[in-house]
Amino acid sequence: MSNYFDLSGKVSLVTGGSRGIGLAMAKGLAQAGSDVVIWDIDAERNAAAVDELSKHGTRVRSAVVDVSDEQLVGSSVEDIVGELGRIDTCVANAGISTPSQSMLDIDGETLRKLLAVNLDGMFFTLREAARAMKKRALAGDPGGSLIGQSSLQATHGAPGKQHYGASKGAVIAVIKGMAVEFGRYGIRANAIMPGFIKTDMNAAGHDDEKLNSRVVSRVPIRGWGTPDDLAGLGVYLASDAARYHSGTAIELDGGYSAL
Ligand code: NAI
Repeated sequence: MSNYFDLSGKVSLVTGGSRGIGLAMAKGLAQAGSDVVIWDIDAERNAAAVDELSKHGTRVRSAVVDVSDEQLVGSSVEDIVGELGRIDTCVANAGISTPSQSMLDIDGETLRKLLAVNLDGMFFTLREAARAMKKRALAGDPGGSLIGQSSLQATHGAPGKQHYGASKGAVIAVIKGMAVEFGRYGIRANAIMPGFIKTDMNAAGHDDEKLNSRVVSRVPIRGWGTPDDLAGLGVYLASDAARYHSGTAIELDGGYSAL
């Protein structure tokens, strides 16, 4: 292997890729030589992200895809294979959260709305990517990397966000099942469990005195992480250097979970 992390010739899909962690991971993948497709729900943000990603000289595409739309996810994966020829990496990153509130006040509608994106959308995305990867493998060209964006909240109690925690636990379950089912085609599947990463999703917490002094202050590496802190892991998992790395859930939390 001349360069462990060279992604030239590969095609990567990142959902929720127009900002935050998704955009940072897309940047990392493009910088390492991968063609990149981002899906998100806002056309303007998609266009701005495509401009930024295109600086790296690889092919970059975007599509407005709501990952909870099963039909659209299927046809949009077909579009990628039709236009760019293949999918090598799929980062199922799109996700939503809700403001913290007592579980006693999380009603069924709130639960279903969140699961529609974080659970159904993740499932549809990874399933359709795996379908394309398996087809390619059966045609004699095996391999692929499925990446699910879980969260530390899958395993660390998330008061007021039990629905979110449930959806993130589901990512790990789906990823592990996929690692076992599709490993025979050279397809790997891993989940990432980020800790406190400063993004728009948790903007309300950035200056929250209680959260910062009682919780974030305990992060051994000190303070919040940034979306860019995820980029290298994405490149590694997408690369052939990770050929034998499958079925894991990787904490990326500045050491928080080790405490
Ligand atoms: P963000 O809110 O900045 O980015 C999420 C992106 O997903 C947005 O661009 C949004 O438009 C997109 N999105 C939302 N619903 C969608 C849908 N139905 N279809 C397609 N795209 C959709 O948040 P962030 O922090 O970058 O989150 C990315 C992922 O990382 C999420 O799954 C989140 O749960 C997870 N995560 C974030 C952590 C953090 O500390 N920021 C910690 C652990 C996990």
